[in-house]
Amino acid sequence: MSTAQNKTQPRYGDGDTSFQAAGGQAGIRKLVDDFYDVMDQHTDADRIRKMHPRDLEESRDKLALFLCGWLGGPRLFREKYGPISIPQAHSHLRIDSADRDNWLMCMEEALKLQPYAEDFKQYMLIQLAVPAERCRTVD
Ligand code: HEM
Repeated sequence: MSTAQNKTQPRYGDGDTSFQAAGGQAGIRKLVDDFYDVMDQHTDADRIRKMHPRDLEESRDKLALFLCGWLGGPRLFREKYGPISIPQAHSHLRIDSADRDNWLMCMEEALKLQPYAEDFKQYMLIQLAVPAERCRTVD
């Protein structure tokens, strides 16, 4: 049963609602910068940090542009870097369930630093768990 609020307010996932809730491109860049800063500093993330290049500039740019499109905004990753399949982009890496969980932990910590609505932070984590699981390449 839908409530009056559900009728008047677009839901996350509708159109570009999520992109807007994340603060557009600038908000998403801030989220991704905080995400990689957490990964850089958190001991539990050492293993996944070491999978990345020393210089994270391109990694930051790629994840931010990817998330813009993934959240229903402009498909900026495709425009700049071409088409991408997330599982394929990770298939050369040895990612186990602990790595997946540590990636999501970095995102959870980065989300805490954003001025987003609490329900949107929850939504993001639940949604990101899906591609994160698809990046896992070993048990
Ligand atoms: C499950 C845990 C994950 C780990 C450990 C991980 C790790 C990595 C690493 C190490 C790279 C750089 C690869 C390289 O330079 O060769 C990368 C690239 C990337 N990752 Fe992830 N990732 C994870 C999940 C995700 C998720 C859930 C998303 C999207 C929602 C994502 C989006 C990207 C994108 C867009 C790139 C750039 C791909 C390219 O170079 O074209 N990753 N990831």
